[in-house]
Amino acid sequence: MAGSSALAPPGFPAELHAGNRERLVAALRGHLSGSARPLRGLALLQGGEEQNRHCTDHLELFRQESYFAYLFGVREPGFYGAIDIASGQSILFAPRLPPDYVVWMGEIKPLSYFKDRYKVDVVFYVDEIAQVLQDKFSEHGKALLFLLYGKSSDSGNYSKPATFEGIEKFDTDLSTLHPIITECRVIKSDMEIALMQYANDVSSEAHIEVMRQVKPGMKEYQLESIFLHHAYMYGACRHCSYTCICATGENSSVLHYGHTAAPNDRTLNDGDMALMDMGAEYSFYGSDITCSYPINGKFNGNQTIVYNAVLKAHNAVISHMQPGVKWIDMHKLAEQTILESLEKENIIHGDIGAMMARRLGAVFMPHGLGHLLGIDTHDPGGYPEGLERPKEPGLSSLRTIRELKEGMVITVEPGCYFIDALLRPARDDPISSKFFNWEEIEKYKNFGGVRIESDLYVTAHGCKNMTNCPRETWEIEAVMAGAPWPSCIAKT
Ligand code: GLY
Ligand code: MN
Ligand code: MN
Repeated sequence: MAGSSALAPPGFPAELHAGNRERLVAALRGHLSGSARPLRGLALLQGGEEQNRHCTDHLELFRQESYFAYLFGVREPGFYGAIDIASGQSILFAPRLPPDYVVWMGEIKPLSYFKDRYKVDVVFYVDEIAQVLQDKFSEHGKALLFLLYGKSSDSGNYSKPATFEGIEKFDTDLSTLHPIITECRVIKSDMEIALMQYANDVSSEAHIEVMRQVKPGMKEYQLESIFLHHAYMYGACRHCSYTCICATGENSSVLHYGHTAAPNDRTLNDGDMALMDMGAEYSFYGSDITCSYPINGKFNGNQTIVYNAVLKAHNAVISHMQPGVKWIDMHKLAEQTILESLEKENIIHGDIGAMMARRLGAVFMPHGLGHLLGIDTHDPGGYPEGLERPKEPGLSSLRTIRELKEGMVITVEPGCYFIDALLRPARDDPISSKFFNWEEIEKYKNFGGVRIESDLYVTAHGCKNMTNCPRETWEIEAVMAGAPWPSCIAKT
């Protein structure tokens, strides 16, 4: 797209969050009546707090805690939110701000502003929580508060249950809410899909803009900068879903490159591959897209081999996806497809089934095939109770092994990398070693890797690709040479 066109960002969808609350209430009611418990109590969540940079008074840019964002869509820090399970009534508690807030931070908004913007039933101040909950919801003695407490299966960290002065006067339940709200987040509504499609459209275009500007001699961070500028300037995306991975040359085999200690600062050389993993977030909902291409705009022989192996896996998975399909089987399909392509090119040899059984696909693709996506890049719900994370190489990296369900959004991101730290032990193992053509692999020594990542929405009978980037080698070469690529964004 032309750099000066403006995109049309969607307005704030208060109804989306009201719909999320409705689904939670229905699920909680179903759970309570199923376990013969009375339909009483409130789900109570504490929103995120603004953080200072270490000991200074510099405020980091705040982004709402994801479960709180899911239910209330509140962008400001310091809030609490409650939902009465019996009536469905929604309540926000806003922080009471000091008078000089108006001098330093701007208008102190009245409670009516939050009621109108977030379309909740009633708004009080945070310092009124204990009294409000006591007065309005304690008709049978103590009010029962369902608090959010549970572990992220990706980070191992626990969500922080709400706490406030006087909470000891209430009965609390720490175990019910987390799995139920997490499961609600797994299935996306049409309005959630619309936001994720917008984030995808903006990110797809920003990727294409990077693709068109890349050339030898640039720095990786300049590619990051082009993406960030484009997504913010033309898509109104202030946040990204995650730190940009702008890896070129050997860096493209470092799976989570781009962090502070590896800050996208290499100079691009003619002949390098680029692996660009970048996704913008809009109104809390994210995208997660990877494009891989040669920075000089022309695939050479080895680049074509590895790229097409990964693309074949990406396309094979997408063509098999539909409700009921097990994600672990899709991961194995991707591994097998990549191994078969490498075998055709004499990079490996021997029986692919035997390689799969020894989990040697994980030497080339050590990460999982993909993950649920939504308000978080690695959206929760990958391992509901009763589902154990596999232990074997490669499979242990899967952020989910669930069966696909209609309404899920999941990334498909196969990759093929030449990582010394994984190739060396394979070479040292007398049985594994025989499957590899080490002479051929030597030719890929500084190659790095390729990843192709798209965001897929699972439909009733298949899936829809929300990502719109050139994928075939000839399409990429054409777009990098200036050919048009269809835009999905309505221009204003
Ligand atoms: N960008 C992180 C991931 O693909 O999971
Ligand atoms: Mn991803
Ligand atoms: Mn990614």
